[in-house]
Amino acid sequence: MSELVDDRMTPRKLGRSTALLIAAAFRADPRKALLVLVLTPVSGATAAVTAIGLRLMVDSATAADLAGMMSAAALMAGALVVAFLASTLVAEARIQLQLRVGLVLDQRIMTLCGSLPQLDHHENPAYQDRLDLLRNHRQGLGGAFGIIVENARTLITFGLTVSLLMSVRPELLFLVLLALPTVLAVRRGERATAQAEETTTEPNRLRKSLFALVTSPLSAKEIRVYGLQGELAERHRDLQEQVDGPKRRAEWRSTLWTSGGWTLFGLGFAGALYLVVSAALQGKATPGDVVLTLSLGSQLTSNVSGMITMLSFLQRSVRTVGYYLWLDDHAKAVATAGNGSAVPPPPGHDLVLDRLTFRYPGAARPNLDNLSLRLPAGSTVAIVGENGAGKTTLVKLLCQMYQPTSGRITYAGRDITDYDLQAWRSRTTACFQDYLRPEFLLHESVGLGDLPRIDDFPAAERALDRAGASALPGLLPHGLRTQLGATFPGGTDLSGGQWQKLAMARAGMRAAPLLRVLDEPAANLDPAAEYEIFRSFQETAAQSDEGTITVFVSHRFATVRSADLIVVLDDCRIREVGSHEELMAAGDLYATLYALHAKGYQDQ
Ligand SMILES: Nc1ncnc2c1ncn2[C@@H]1O[C@H](COP(=O)(O)OP(=O)(O)OP(=O)(O)O)[C@@H](O)[C@H]1O
Ligand SMILES: [Mg+2]
Repeated sequence: MSELVDDRMTPRKLGRSTALLIAAAFRADPRKALLVLVLTPVSGATAAVTAIGLRLMVDSATAADLAGMMSAAALMAGALVVAFLASTLVAEARIQLQLRVGLVLDQRIMTLCGSLPQLDHHENPAYQDRLDLLRNHRQGLGGAFGIIVENARTLITFGLTVSLLMSVRPELLFLVLLALPTVLAVRRGERATAQAEETTTEPNRLRKSLFALVTSPLSAKEIRVYGLQGELAERHRDLQEQVDGPKRRAEWRSTLWTSGGWTLFGLGFAGALYLVVSAALQGKATPGDVVLTLSLGSQLTSNVSGMITMLSFLQRSVRTVGYYLWLDDHAKAVATAGNGSAVPPPPGHDLVLDRLTFRYPGAARPNLDNLSLRLPAGSTVAIVGENGAGKTTLVKLLCQMYQPTSGRITYAGRDITDYDLQAWRSRTTACFQDYLRPEFLLHESVGLGDLPRIDDFPAAERALDRAGASALPGLLPHGLRTQLGATFPGGTDLSGGQWQKLAMARAGMRAAPLLRVLDEPAANLDPAAEYEIFRSFQETAAQSDEGTITVFVSHRFATVRSADLIVVLDDCRIREVGSHEELMAAGDLYATLYALHAKGYQDQ
């Protein structure tokens, strides 16, 4: 994690963050963004104009100059009205912009996360830590535009205040220098707090996952059966302490440094007043100058305190935007150029594994070890093996979710990584073990499997039929248009098996894929239903001459035996390959497992 943390607020970073936020604000609401950008400097200048009016008023009064006094009053009244109008309009626009900019950036984050081409980042703790920080702070992104604008306003007010003070006596510039230690103290405190947070992302993530576990409806049953709530709350408390302790200490140190800085500034301000009052007593300054210094002095105090608050907000915002920019850079760095070769059109070709080896990041030994195998076009291939044998890992590699550690997979004689990744993905389809439960309308939840045809009702019906769920629309209140998900008003939840059939139906949506993967597609179904569904996929494949390779993983041997090719994985290696008859004749692991299963069924 530590090598990823770069918390310096460099001008480049500030510039990039500002550009990003301004662009997002204009995308979210161009009129309000323009209003905020134009009116903010105006409202920043009004305080200085009021102070000038005050000096003019006092000096005109001393000289009994009525016209001067009238002009001063007009100036101050005008500044007051402009300040009021500008700040009201800006505040209103900023609140609305905050929400919209937040949504624009949320959508961008969703797109970036979803567009990372492969899955290896999910096994990378540094990536997870950064993404956690972005998730935790992303609500601040919406307000960051307002904060940058507010900083600009504070700077303008500050600059004008300082120029006016120097017009009274140039030495008063030293007040600005005295504000510097406080600014630095706040900056340092902010960094220390953020670093404390960044070094505790891991316990923080665990803490949140515990909270999510206890509050999720999926965990409700086991938590009750095993009485886990007390234990989980206890663990949550321990993790909370690990997260909060360093942060609390950093905040406390920051308060100490800032208090020291403020004491110094207070002493300096007293000195400045002494300087101007003695000059006035010696006739070297006018009464207006004394009033101006008093007014500007207190303005400077609120300026500096505003600047400090703003600076700490700014630092936080730039940091949060930094997490976003990191994701943006990461997505660009891993994006495939999209200029790979075109995937050959149907009919399909053979897929060949050539000494394929894969190891998950951090794994001590290969999770797939030197696999060589030909999957003929148009065939159905069953992959069997015990839990953890590497079946899911193999199908994920076929779908290009990871790059092989060594060796390769070829299609039509070319390494599959040579093909354009999006084109490759659009010619594959899959039902994974951990399938989605999209809470959309029923036909959409199926149609997601072929996005351009999401509203193709007959296609959804055919896919449901092939997945053994042709009766499902008839059981639901609005048929194919039924809203899925109990959390939606009028929504309907489905059983585990029904959700799984929907996942299979999605996998049947794409026409003429070169590869269809079904990873334990029917674990929630009874063996007869699984067998029927598998037959229907197999028949579809046999009837077409598109050459789709159907790879399925199953622990049910009644289904497995009808595959054209059976691959037995054992301890991440290929142990046997052949048809059911060949493997039974060989009398090795497959025959043993098959006999065990058959005996199990006979005993029942
Ligand atoms: N994301 C991951 N990161 C690290 N190791 C993993 C990951 N996923 C799986 N593994 C490891 O890889 C090995 C193979 O896992 P895989 O999921 O491919 O097994 P499987 O044969 O599909 O098992 P099952 O029948 O239980 O689904 C296991 O030892 C597992 O611990
Ligand atoms: Mg698996």
